[in-house]
Amino acid sequence: MPIRKIVYYPDPILLRPTEPVDEIDDSIRTLVADMIETAYAAPGVGLAANQVGVGLRLTVIDLSVGEAPDQLRVLINPRILEERGRQVEEEGCLSVPGFTAPVARPSWVRVEATDLDGKRHEIVSEGLMARAICHELDHLDGRLYLHRLSSLKRERLKKRIDRAIEQGEWARI
Ligand code: NI
Repeated sequence: MPIRKIVYYPDPILLRPTEPVDEIDDSIRTLVADMIETAYAAPGVGLAANQVGVGLRLTVIDLSVGEAPDQLRVLINPRILEERGRQVEEEGCLSVPGFTAPVARPSWVRVEATDLDGKRHEIVSEGLMARAICHELDHLDGRLYLHRLSSLKRERLKKRIDRAIEQGEWARI
């Protein structure tokens, strides 16, 4: 399966809410296979469809990055049903390469999502998995972790990113 190009901030597709997946057909199956391959190659624990330039509401998450096949989750049209608690950890994003920042997230979430077989599931998760799900669902809503920072920290980080882009350290697609 081909590795797809990852879209970098500030590409507008990252800042627009994605559209629901209507039908799980071959194009969706191919997209998912490519996204898994792309996430593993990066490497990253999760990837949202709009990060490879496709504005659809689907994401893949695998905290083991391919080491443990049972950890792979494909979330199609995911939705958060309930969230609890708070955790603050350093977070990065494949679309914002080379930068990280501490981000507050719920420590526990309950979500529902459709899998590749078209079955709707409820998934309860905590810790890193809860963080990964919230990060990816933010992507699908057109939001990056930058938007979860205080405005002061966000502006400071954006300036550093702008500088990296200007200096050509940030490979543009
Ligand atoms: Ni990300």
